Amino acid sequence: MSDLRASVVPDLSGQVAMVTGAARGQGRSHCLALAEVGAAVAALDVCRDLDVPSYPLASRAELDAVVAEIRELGGRALPLVADVREAGDVQAAVTATVEAFGRLDVLVNNAAIVTSAPFWELSEQQWGAVVDTNLSGVWRTTKAAAAYLRRSPRGRIVHIASTGGVRAIPEFAHYVAAKHGVVGLTRAMAIELAGDAVTVNAILPGSVDSPMLAGLADELGLTTDDVHKRWLHDQLLVEVIPAAEVTGALLWLLSDAARHVTGHCLAVDGGALAR
Ligand SMILES: NC(=O)c1ccc[n+]([C@@H]2O[C@H](COP(=O)([O-])OP(=O)(O)OC[C@H]3O[C@@H](n4cnc5c(N)ncnc54)[C@H](O)[C@@H]3O)[C@@H](O)[C@H]2O)c1
Repeated sequence: MSDLRASVVPDLSGQVAMVTGAARGQGRSHCLALAEVGAAVAALDVCRDLDVPSYPLASRAELDAVVAEIRELGGRALPLVADVREAGDVQAAVTATVEAFGRLDVLVNNAAIVTSAPFWELSEQQWGAVVDTNLSGVWRTTKAAAAYLRRSPRGRIVHIASTGGVRAIPEFAHYVAAKHGVVGLTRAMAIELAGDAVTVNAILPGSVDSPMLAGLADELGLTTDDVHKRWLHDQLLVEVIPAAEVTGALLWLLSDAARHVTGHCLAVDGGALAR
């Protein structure tokens, strides 16, 4: 491989990556790619349904399938059942990762949920669940992992936010507030970790093909097609974005070429933010 190619595609051989929300959708795609570029993967997911959202979350079987797929390809992977809303869970997951693989170099904060309603109709429960999972979960998991990431020779943290992290989307006030918070955390953590040469960045996806979109359709009593029509008109490029394209942005942020990119928000949004 040329030096240029080698600098743009990360070689994570010997390194360890943790992904939250790993069992399906974008998290699954990130796990498989991280294993392909050599990382041992700690795949964390809650693996049970919750009161909020009303749509099903990933199952234990889905998490095990991701781990089995990585192992079949000769990679190393560890399934971790943990809830990012519980400090004890994420601390135990980080400890188990370091016990299994000896270190932690990369953290991808991807787990999140969504519900939708005008802000005056949101229940305390919806507000609390979305903010606790999508925002506090990112802080909590990064806090638990920070000591190991700071010790890594090339620590990298990537938060999966949303275009809703830098603009409003009607009927998603709690999700928008949480994702704006994730963008704030990206910048605050980038400053505090720069001394340890750990980069912290966020990806802002547009409408991505994943079970979350189907879940949202259920929440709203719409078909997945209707949901696409409702939000895709926002994108200059009106196709639903494949999860693999978000993974592509993630890999670049983990590459040597992005060594000096930190505190940045990278939109993979079909041009939605250009409006
Ligand atoms: N799908 C989209 O259109 C879209 C758009 C913008 C941003 N995003 C963001 O992308 C990320 C990935 O979403 P996705 O589309 O793959 O959704 P998804 O619902 O398919 O995957 C989310 C995963 O997170 C897990 N999870 C949920 N709550 C958890 C908890 N408390 N603890 C641990 N795991 C938990 C779920 O079980 C699931 O496996 C999320 O941060 C989401 O907000 C998605």
